[in-house]
Amino acid sequence: MKGVVLAAGKGTRLYPITHSIPKPLLPLANRPTLYYAFDRLKEMGVRDICIVVGEMEQQMRDFLGDGSAQEVNLTFVRQTEPKGLAHAVGFAKNFVGGDPFVLYLGDAIYGSSFKSYADRFLASGCANLNIVKAVDDPSRFGVANVEGDRIVKLVEKPKNPESNLAMAGMYFFGPQIWSVLPDLAPSARGEYEITDAIQVLIDQGQTVLAGVYDGVWFDTGTLDSFLETSAFLTGGNSLVDPTAEVTGILGKGAVIGERARLKCASITDSVVMPGADVVVTGSIQHAILAGRVRRDGSVENQILQEGSGVEVAS
Ligand code: G1P
Repeated sequence: MKGVVLAAGKGTRLYPITHSIPKPLLPLANRPTLYYAFDRLKEMGVRDICIVVGEMEQQMRDFLGDGSAQEVNLTFVRQTEPKGLAHAVGFAKNFVGGDPFVLYLGDAIYGSSFKSYADRFLASGCANLNIVKAVDDPSRFGVANVEGDRIVKLVEKPKNPESNLAMAGMYFFGPQIWSVLPDLAPSARGEYEITDAIQVLIDQGQTVLAGVYDGVWFDTGTLDSFLETSAFLTGGNSLVDPTAEVTGILGKGAVIGERARLKCASITDSVVMPGADVVVTGSIQHAILAGRVRRDGSVENQILQEGSGVEVAS
C-alpha cells in the first residue's frame, strides 16, 4: 500500500508563523508535524509516500528531502490551486498507479496505531474504508451514516447531522476512486470534496466500510488546537531543545525549539519556534512565538512574531 499526505493548505489560521514555516513542518513537541504522520504510516507498512504540496513546495522539498532520514521514500506533487481534498488527491494519481493507498490529512495527529484498520481494508478488498470517530460537534466535519460495518451516506458539514460520526481525516482507497474524481462538481464552499467522491462510490454500490476509531485525534490548524496537541504530546511537561538557550525560569508546559534564545520571567503553556529570539519580562500564556519578540507585559492567546503588529518593545 502507498501513502498520500495532503499538505498543501496555507495554514491561514496560524498566520503569521505559517508565512515563514509551512504548517506541516511546524514543530510539535519539537518534531515537525509531518514526522508523526510518517510514524503512523510506517506502522501500517507504508513507506512510499507522496506529499501533495502547495505554494510552499520549495521549503517542503528542502526540509524533507527524499525522506531517507525518516526511513520513508518521498515524492512531491504540486496542487496548483487550493480546490479541496478531492482535487488535491487527483495530483497523486500517477504516483499511486493501480495500488491501494491511504490518504492522510497532513495536519492530523492521532494517539494510536491504524495498522488493524489497514489490514482490515486490504483483507476486505473493498473500494474504500474510512476512519470515523464519534464527536460532540459533528456539523464541523464530514458526517457518516453507518449501518453495520458500512457507510451508507455521507454529508459534508451538515447543519443537522444525522449521526455523530465524523470523518476523521484518514481514508483507505482502492483504484475505484480514480474514475469518480473527474465528474465531481464543486460543493457550496467551492471545493471538490472527498466526501462527495466517496458518496459516488456508495451510489455506485461499491463497498464502503467504516473503521470506528475511539483514540485521540487532533487537527492542529488553530492556536488552541495546536497548543492542545502540543500539551498532549509533551504530557503537559516543558520541553527544551538541547540547542536552545534559556535564561531564567520557565513556566510549566512550555516547549522551546531548536536554537531558540529565550530570556524569561515566565512563559507557560506556549511554544517557541526554532531560531526564535524572545525576551519575556511578564507572563506569557497560551501563545506561539517566532522570530524576534520582545514583550514587557502580560500576553495570552496570541501568535507573536516580529512584524506581526503585536510586538511591544521592552
Ligand atoms: C475536511 C473534510 C471533512 C473531514 C475533516 C477532518 O474538512 O472535508 O469531511 O471531516 O477534513 O479534519 P476541512 O478541514 O477541509 O474543513
